[in-house]
Amino acid sequence: MSRVVLGVAGGIAAYKACELLRRLVEAGHDVTVVPTASALNFVGAATWEALSHNRVAADVWTDAAEVPHVRLGRQADLVVVAPATADLIAKAAHGLADDLLTNTLLTARCPVLFAPAMHTEMWEHPATVDNIATLRRRGTVVLDPASGRLTGADTGKGRLPEAAEIARLAELLLRRPDALPHDLAGRHVVVSAGGTREALDPVRFLGNASTGQQGYAIAAVAAARGARVTLVAANADLPDPAAVDVVRVVSALELREAVHKAAEDADCVVMAAAVADFRPSSLVDHKIKKSGTAPAPIVLEENPDVLAELVAARRPGQVLVGFAAETGDATATVLDHGRTKLARKGCDLLVVNAVGKGVAFGQADNTGVILGADGTETDVPFGPKAVLAAAVCDAIVSRFVR
Ligand code: CTP
Repeated sequence: MSRVVLGVAGGIAAYKACELLRRLVEAGHDVTVVPTASALNFVGAATWEALSHNRVAADVWTDAAEVPHVRLGRQADLVVVAPATADLIAKAAHGLADDLLTNTLLTARCPVLFAPAMHTEMWEHPATVDNIATLRRRGTVVLDPASGRLTGADTGKGRLPEAAEIARLAELLLRRPDALPHDLAGRHVVVSAGGTREALDPVRFLGNASTGQQGYAIAAVAAARGARVTLVAANADLPDPAAVDVVRVVSALELREAVHKAAEDADCVVMAAAVADFRPSSLVDHKIKKSGTAPAPIVLEENPDVLAELVAARRPGQVLVGFAAETGDATATVLDHGRTKLARKGCDLLVVNAVGKGVAFGQADNTGVILGADGTETDVPFGPKAVLAAAVCDAIVSRFVR
């Protein structure tokens, strides 16, 4: 069981921290909520205490004999601040300590994750920009907010990322405290995710079991590490990761067009999507009816291999990553198939998953081996998909440096 401090600053998104708290508690963590005094104007201490099963205070004077600001900071395995307001960020950047949360931030030596939420003007203000740069330079993980509807009628950048996404990144930091350095800043990373659908008629298609979770995890982790991310999503029924440009596609041909367009200025393309190798050669423009006789066979034609096209058109320095879901067979193991595919595809990295028997597709956890064209082989043990995503980002970053 890990000890997590959930700091809540005084913004309207404080109510969304209740959902985050519930997720952290359900994951088995011992969570102490430390709201600021203004956060308590939005959500009261009783809610935090009932959901966390721990006492809640905003000031350093409650239970002073226990010296709570030192105890909480020292014992924490992770501090998450969600929402982090412009004011709280400014205080943290300058080392101010006038309440329990800011004191705890100074005594904590564990990873610290900030999920900011504020109006766009406040997010873009040079003071906030500088403060965030300061925090990131010191190793604090500061997520970019999501775009969308804000408190009033206005829309823009400043929404708190989804509670589920913050919870997944928190879990990642608990398992790997070094998983979210800001080392993809200035890079454009393109990720394809999900499974394509190849239409037979207006209501039927040939599809596959990919849900998109692994590709979405890579997009979220790359964004948290500072990349500008374009996610080409094929039929994935998942919420958009915060601060990621999502381009929705259905078929392999649509995916191909979107990926090539995004790849023009990309530093890296990760092809996590399950792209159909074949499509029906003719699309019937009306629903195919039963006719009483045997149905006509479905005639297929081959789809372009998008990854092979990317390899052929690769810009200097561009890193290309493929995925391969494999099963072993009588002739070769999963890894043998992976090595052969890596050589055939000509990409820099190939993430090999063993599939079948309920593994990988649609599951929250995954395992894999990251094969490098340079002969490297990185085993990622079974765990949350964000852990494999972070290992993929590590491998990508190491290719940039060379
Ligand atoms: N891929 C692609 N375009 C396709 C098919 C696959 O870009 N038309 C990409 C996938 O996104 C993945 C990688 O190629 O990153 C490997 O996909 P896979 O289906 O395993 O490769 P295939 O070449 O189709 O190999 P197999 O014969 O095993 O199906």
